[in-house]
Amino acid sequence: MNTKLFQKDFICTPDWSVEDLNTMLDLAMRLKEDFSMGMIHDQILRAKTLYMLFFEESTRTRNSFETGMTQLGGHAIWLTPKATQIGHGENAKDTGIVLSSYGHGIAIRDCRTGIGNKYLYEMAEYADAPIINMQDDVDHPCQAMADLMTMMELFGRDLRRRKFVISWTYAPKYVRPLSVPQSLVWLMPRFGMDVTLAYPEGYHMMPNVMEKARAFADEAGVQLTETHDMAEAFDGADFLYAKSWGPIMVTEDEAKVEAMNDQHKDWKVSQKMMDLAKKSAVYMHCMPIDRGHEADDDVIDGKQSIIYKQAENRLHIQKALMALTMGGRA
Ligand code: CP
Repeated sequence: MNTKLFQKDFICTPDWSVEDLNTMLDLAMRLKEDFSMGMIHDQILRAKTLYMLFFEESTRTRNSFETGMTQLGGHAIWLTPKATQIGHGENAKDTGIVLSSYGHGIAIRDCRTGIGNKYLYEMAEYADAPIINMQDDVDHPCQAMADLMTMMELFGRDLRRRKFVISWTYAPKYVRPLSVPQSLVWLMPRFGMDVTLAYPEGYHMMPNVMEKARAFADEAGVQLTETHDMAEAFDGADFLYAKSWGPIMVTEDEAKVEAMNDQHKDWKVSQKMMDLAKKSAVYMHCMPIDRGHEADDDVIDGKQSIIYKQAENRLHIQKALMALTMGGRA
């Protein structure tokens, strides 16, 4: 356990050791248990403020952070570029210095490709409060940690040698960032899982992310496999995390993306696909989910689906994260 996480930024999971991440998981489980008994923890962040800056929309992230702050006795303020002077060009340095002179944490969602992650690290350089990543173009660390917590609740803390599959799925709508699959490919090997990443040609991850993921897999002595065959990936899996993302390394042009996506409508999770995995396998998704395109309703609403547990655990893992990074000192 590492209790010296006060004021530590949480931008990408590789910035935290496995010991640090386990501390977050331990505390999240404790806070969740306490929450189930109606135990109130409104002294941990009493009179503290979290600024939540959203460049994009959110259902789960905004509401779980804001609710978490309320439960820990603090207050969260929802900001957007339009609601601040960021929309008029005020930079990360000035915004970070000023906000951190008022409050105790700055959480940011900025998924602009090639911009978001850099913006978070730039603000962290100047802000006198922890910067929390609510999803950027590279990582979605709070989502991946909530996912890991959910898996541990169901399968136990020791997940070594389990087969974790990240699969692309078809969706016709907007161009989703790479940050969810990348957060998973970084995190799961560090907890001893064999990871298979399945996607059609052109939907690959950022090369530097894969390089780091391969280093984590080597260090842990586990397999990290890439394939263009969804059925092959599902074979014998324990965890099936199947979602859509854009061919961002190739194009973000909406018409071109749609044309590329349309060639792969068969990349969909059906019960027949689920049956290729282990009987005990679970279906995972970070949500929002494109029902009928990414997966069939009988899978999404079926016994093997744990999507609502994943969403619920966003609250508990983020409460733990905020308590550790913002609650250390008065
Ligand atoms: N999974 C997730 O981050 O959901 P939102 O986009 O609704 O925040």
